[in-house]
Amino acid sequence: MKAEDYDFIARLVKEQSGLALPGDKHYLVESRLLPVAREAGVDDLSGLVRQMRRIDTGPALREAVVEAMTTNESFFFRDKLPFEYFSGVVMPYLLEARAAKRHIRIWCAAASTGQEPYSLAICLQEMGARVSGWRIEILGTDISLQALARAQAGCYTPFEVQRGLPPHLLAKYFVQKPERNGDTWEIVPAIRSMVTFQKFNLLDRFTALGTFDIVFCRNVLIYFDSRTKADVLERIARVMPPDGFMMLGAAETVVGLTDMFQPIPARRGLYSPAGNRSAPGLSSYVGNA
Ligand SMILES: C[S@@+](CC[C@H](N)C(=O)[O-])C[C@H]1O[C@@H](n2cnc3c(N)ncnc32)[C@H](O)[C@@H]1O
Repeated sequence: MKAEDYDFIARLVKEQSGLALPGDKHYLVESRLLPVAREAGVDDLSGLVRQMRRIDTGPALREAVVEAMTTNESFFFRDKLPFEYFSGVVMPYLLEARAAKRHIRIWCAAASTGQEPYSLAICLQEMGARVSGWRIEILGTDISLQALARAQAGCYTPFEVQRGLPPHLLAKYFVQKPERNGDTWEIVPAIRSMVTFQKFNLLDRFTALGTFDIVFCRNVLIYFDSRTKADVLERIARVMPPDGFMMLGAAETVVGLTDMFQPIPARRGLYSPAGNRSAPGLSSYVGNA
């Protein structure tokens, strides 16, 4: 692949999605974009770039290129601890702090194929009477329409449901459906209906989404450069109340990027907007988890 074609694609993907492609990802770019090139009726990436450079090319081809460069890997209860913190620290604190309005909003900011928001919905369902009568919204957003279509369908392969999902939760919240290409496990309507999915690019303005008590922004910032990471984190902080909670992925941190979040002590990856130390009662939940 020619260096100028690679640079064109890297620049386009960065501008449209924030995804940073280091100079040594030629193999990755070729393997992901050759199918897009063929779909567009050309044989190689030079042809694809030529098509994209044409003034009359609409956004569809650029979107297909960005889509192909996203990594949609996800699984149920990924890394386990975030979901233990959710059920053991975050929700107990918010159930007390929001007792007057009984309304909590949760945002999965890179929901991919849905396993993360559905894991949160299952945690809530497992909380039973403690959350009955509460309005708890879960919004899952992602830039990838293909990932969102899978999330919306709520159907997973045997491999996907074996990854991270405890067997008793599989039996309780999924229905096995025999299909021609192998079995599918479909999430039950009670869990499916707890999550709303929407296409959303983290580079866009967040204001139309409203505010969120809890934000899961996991395993997406790793693909951005430091400036984009800091920008996204700071804009997330602005759509959260001071006593909200933000969860990052295992390989992610706010350190060195922004001081608008502070870590919750002894809860790796869990943050609150700066200033939350004064949140009444938080320390008792953190201590008890
Ligand atoms: C590795 S998945 C993470 C899924 C889930 N949060 C998890 O931790 O299992 C990363 C997701 O980020 C999405 N993504 C990448 N760039 C994005 C952007 N600019 N706006 C919104 N989503 C983006 C990708 O489409 C992909 O589905």
